[in-house]
Amino acid sequence: MSVPIYERVHHNLKRLKLMTIDSLVDDHLEIAAKEKRTTLEVLDYLLDQERKSHEDRALGIRMRLSGFPMEKRLDDFDMSFQPSLDPTVIRDLASLRFIHHAENVVFLGPPGVGKTHLALSLGSEAIKQGIRVYFVNASNLIERLEKASHDKRLEERLKALNKFPLLIVDEMG
Ligand SMILES: Nc1ncnc2c1ncn2[C@@H]1O[C@H](COP(=O)(O)OP(=O)(O)OP(=O)(O)O)[C@@H](O)[C@H]1O
Ligand SMILES: [Mg+2]
Repeated sequence: MSVPIYERVHHNLKRLKLMTIDSLVDDHLEIAAKEKRTTLEVLDYLLDQERKSHEDRALGIRMRLSGFPMEKRLDDFDMSFQPSLDPTVIRDLASLRFIHHAENVVFLGPPGVGKTHLALSLGSEAIKQGIRVYFVNASNLIERLEKASHDKRLEERLKALNKFPLLIVDEMG
């Protein structure tokens, strides 16, 4: 006897790991019937929800792997507080062009002026754009690289770091 269509649909959704559609499809088909939605509209809605949850999960993973000590937002950075800082430069950095061009950015200044805040908030923007980011303190980085070198795994470690298009090295001073 063939498998009933309802079971086959859910079986296939699970096998294809389309878990969001799997959880939404029953309710959504009822709503769609009431609202007389077309098949294409139903498909569009379900696929869009699946894509969003995939992206949210990937964003969460990038965030967890980033090693950020805290979250900082560019919107919370008060430009007027730092007259020596040109807002145009910050806006340009926020475009993340520097990452695509593989350019280095250095924030120099006395303690407490927002260097880490700016670095973390640009990092957050990059993570939101789908870019992998890794945050590390300079002393930690050196320590880890020294250990890797001692264990004859320096190349491997550098390769792993190279997978992050944006590496934030804090506390260079
Ligand atoms: N212009 C600013 N607008 C909003 N918050 C700021 C600003 N400058 C600094 N802060 C806040 O002040 C605190 C200290 O800033 P931050 O840690 O970024 O300084 P820093 O330049 O990295 O200092 P350090 O050299 O000691 O590491 C943080 O909580 C940060 O969010
Ligand atoms: Mg700092």
